[in-house]
Amino acid sequence: MACPANHPKLNKTVRVAVTGAAGNIGYALLFRLASGAVFGPNTPVQLQLLERDNEQSKAALQGVCMELFDCAFPLLTKVVTTSDPRVAFDGANAAFLIGSMPRGAGMDRSDLLLANGPIFQEQGRALDEAADRNVKVLVVGNPCNTNAYIAYHHAPNLDPKCFSAMMRLDANRAVAQLAEKTQKPVCSIQGVRVWGNHSNSMYPDITAATIAGTAATELVDEAWYNDYFLPTVATRGGAIIKARGKSSAASAASAAIDHMRDWWNGSDGRVVTMAVPSDGSYGIPEGIVCGMPVICTGNGNYEIVKDIEFTAAGRARLDKTVAELVKESETVAPLIAE
Ligand code: NAI
Repeated sequence: MACPANHPKLNKTVRVAVTGAAGNIGYALLFRLASGAVFGPNTPVQLQLLERDNEQSKAALQGVCMELFDCAFPLLTKVVTTSDPRVAFDGANAAFLIGSMPRGAGMDRSDLLLANGPIFQEQGRALDEAADRNVKVLVVGNPCNTNAYIAYHHAPNLDPKCFSAMMRLDANRAVAQLAEKTQKPVCSIQGVRVWGNHSNSMYPDITAATIAGTAATELVDEAWYNDYFLPTVATRGGAIIKARGKSSAASAASAAIDHMRDWWNGSDGRVVTMAVPSDGSYGIPEGIVCGMPVICTGNGNYEIVKDIEFTAAGRARLDKTVAELVKESETVAPLIAE
C-alpha cells in the first residue's frame, strides 16, 4: 500500500467513532476499519474510541490501542480514547454504536430495552451536539432497532436518515444458507432482504432473490424455506452462543463493515438490507427503525425499495415483526419523552 503521506490522490481523513471499542465486536472491527476495508485504500482514518469509565474497560482499550499501533497501518492517522461520548463523536463522519449492556439472567427483551435505552439517549444527544451533520450512525448494540429509534429521537438537529441499525448479519446469514443449500457461490445470489426487527420475529424474504439469474423460489422448496431456512436464520445468534459460549463477534463485525461500506460508497444498484426509519412505506408506521430493502445511491444516501408485492404468508410475517417493533417503541416511550 502506498504511504498516505506521499499519496497524490489521498482523500480527507474520515473520523470514525466506535463505542464499546474494547468489546468482542470492537476487537474484530477496528483493525479492518484501520486497514481501509470501509472507506477505501485512499482514505485516512482517525479512530475515536468510547469505552466505559472503569479501570478494566480502560485497560482493555489501552491493550487494543497498543495492537493497533503495532499494526503500523498506513491509513491510521490518530486514535482517540475516551469515556465521554461528546469527545468520541466530535466531528465524527461515521459512528458504530456497539457498546451496550448484555442481556442478564432473568431479563426479558423489555428489561433490556429499558436498561440500554439511557445509553442511546445520551449518545443521541452527544451525536446531535458534536458529530458532523452528515454523520452515518450504525447501531449494533441490541435491541439495535429500538436503540437506533431512541438515539435519533434525541438528535433533533440531525436527519433521522443519519441513523440505521444492523440487520446485515441476518441478511448475510440468509445468503450463506441459500448458497449452501443450492451449492452456488455467494456472489451469484442477489435480492435477499430481511424485514423488520433484529429478533426471532424477523422476516428473511427470498421472493425476489435470484441465484445465478434463476428465481431462488424455483431452486429451493417451500418446506425447506419454512421449516429449515426461516428458523435457522432467525435463531442463528442463539446457535452461535450455544456453540461458542459467546455471542457472534467476527461475523457481526464483518456485517457492520458491509453495511457501512455500502452506505458510504453506494451499493452499485444492489439491494441490501438496512434497518432505517420507516417513511410509511408498506404500511410500516413512520419513524420506527425497520429492516427494509434499500439501494445505497452513494455519498451516504439510500432509497427504500418501493412497490414490492407480498405473498399472504409474507405479509403476515411482516405484520408480526412490525407489531413487535411498535410494541418496543411503546415500551421506550418514556425514554423518548425525556
Ligand atoms: P461485549 O460485551 O464483548 O462488548 C461490549 C463493550 O461495550 C464492552 O467493552 C463494554 O465495556 C462496552 N460498553 C458497555 N456500555 C457502554 C457505554 N455506555 N459506553 C461505551 N461502552 C460501553 O459485547 P459484543 O459481543 O461486542 O456485542 C456488543 C453488542 O452488539 C451487544 O448488544 C450484542 O447483543 C450486539 N450484537 C448485535 C448484532 C446485530 O446483528 N445487530 C450481532 C451481534 C451482537
